[in-house]
Amino acid sequence: MLNNEEKRKISLKNYEDWQKAIDKKDLRIAVIGIGRIGLPTSLVISKRGFMTYGIDINPVLVEKVNQGGGDPPIPFVLDEPNLAETLKDVVLKGLFKATTQFEQFAKISDVILICVPTPVTEHKVPDYSIIDNVVKDIGSLKDDLKNKIIIFEPTLGPHYVEKHGIPSIESFSGLKVNRDFWVVSCPERANPGYIMENLTSVPRIVGGSNDFAGKVITSLYKKVYNVEIIQVSNPRTANSIKLIENIFRTVNIAFANEISQLMRRLDIDYMEVLKGAATKYNFLPHYPGPGVGGPCLPSNPYYLIDDGYKVSFTPNLVRLATEINQRQPAHITELIFEGLNKIGYPIAGTPIAFLGISYKANVKDIQISSAIPIIEDLRNYNASVKVYDPFYKSDRFLNMKIAPDYKFIQQDYPIIVVHTDHKEFCTNEFKQYLKKCSNLKVLVDCHNIYEYQELPQGIYYIGVGRPAKYIE
Ligand SMILES: NC(=O)c1ccc[n+]([C@@H]2O[C@H](COP(=O)([O-])OP(=O)(O)OC[C@H]3O[C@@H](n4cnc5c(N)ncnc54)[C@H](O)[C@@H]3O)[C@@H](O)[C@H]2O)c1
Repeated sequence: MLNNEEKRKISLKNYEDWQKAIDKKDLRIAVIGIGRIGLPTSLVISKRGFMTYGIDINPVLVEKVNQGGGDPPIPFVLDEPNLAETLKDVVLKGLFKATTQFEQFAKISDVILICVPTPVTEHKVPDYSIIDNVVKDIGSLKDDLKNKIIIFEPTLGPHYVEKHGIPSIESFSGLKVNRDFWVVSCPERANPGYIMENLTSVPRIVGGSNDFAGKVITSLYKKVYNVEIIQVSNPRTANSIKLIENIFRTVNIAFANEISQLMRRLDIDYMEVLKGAATKYNFLPHYPGPGVGGPCLPSNPYYLIDDGYKVSFTPNLVRLATEINQRQPAHITELIFEGLNKIGYPIAGTPIAFLGISYKANVKDIQISSAIPIIEDLRNYNASVKVYDPFYKSDRFLNMKIAPDYKFIQQDYPIIVVHTDHKEFCTNEFKQYLKKCSNLKVLVDCHNIYEYQELPQGIYYIGVGRPAKYIE
């Protein structure tokens, strides 16, 4: 005699039964990896009423999540609007539980959603070791994997799922895809700092191991996120869409970084050029900066390049664009040197106020941040760098203590580098504060935040792609 759980599992073999379970919210979802992307994903799913298990190997994170955020809180609670409230709500309602117990909770789930990191190695090739381990764990569920759907949400090379993920699961489990279990690629497209909002507004791409799997997850995601779902032919197409949208940005940012360097040498303000060019209907402005950082833009091109190698094709433009962006932090160091030359200060021993270390505005994240090579460079020249970032007040960074606020600049800092365009550095309060810094002589603005007329008089302002300007 079959017990209820076994009957239920078998019933999830046809579309109508999945649809009924989706309508009744009678599905259990396991999310493997509850970091920057996996946690908000789990929260949105559980908030919709589906029992969700967040499985992670980090016991401290698991404990904090089960406490509704922990103290000191996990970083995403600090910089993802709406996350803290939703976390407390779903934990309290018993709809979400974090755990380190993979087997126990994956077994009882109908959908296993993978959300672990996919970094690149120092040699710039994809490091799939973390996801490979998860795939192996999933395959090791053997018969308990039957009739489940596995969703791949990480950013991956186009062919990872079909040529590696599925064959591995088949070989570890002894089961067959599209007969015993199904697989879907649905790469995550949310933007840090806006993840909760993006999850319920940005369309999702779904590519299944067969049409059935694609349709079931389309229906589930429609219910959960209430966004447009674009079902594509297969996982490799879904993975490519995610890669191409990020690589498009990488290439355009590289174009902006390179051309902006040329423009300033030609004594032309690239920001003014962009403003003009943007008036043409088919021009898409991308802005120069200190380089690209975070888990996505610096790494994603290498997944495509790596799959390209396997078919003897190198996307040269993509490769060159990543190299141009990697060289951009060194350009910022050059701008700092230029500023110091203008005022006749040596780099060694000069106090430099460095503001913002996050790789992007308003997030607590320093993964592959351009702040790291720039500060390391400056310290190699014996500059005396003091750092402040509103998300890392009084923390330690590169063996330095981060200042508790920016008020130290007034003391004796002739040069400020605004590295990250955090809101705090764009406020009137901050701009007024700059006017009180009587020793200030140079401002290097890595994101061209400031207008000339709002800057203190008597300083050199150096933007990216803008000729140095003495503010009179
Ligand atoms: N962060 C972003 O901006 C962003 C945006 C879109 C897509 N992505 C993609 O989403 C994926 C996840 O990235 P993230 O930023 O959330 O990573 P993250 O590092 O913030 O979180 C990953 C989590 O996975 C856990 N983990 C690692 N190995 C595990 C295992 N074997 N079992 C269970 N848990 C495990 C880690 O402990 C961590 O908590 C990556 O492929 C990334 O490229 C990230």
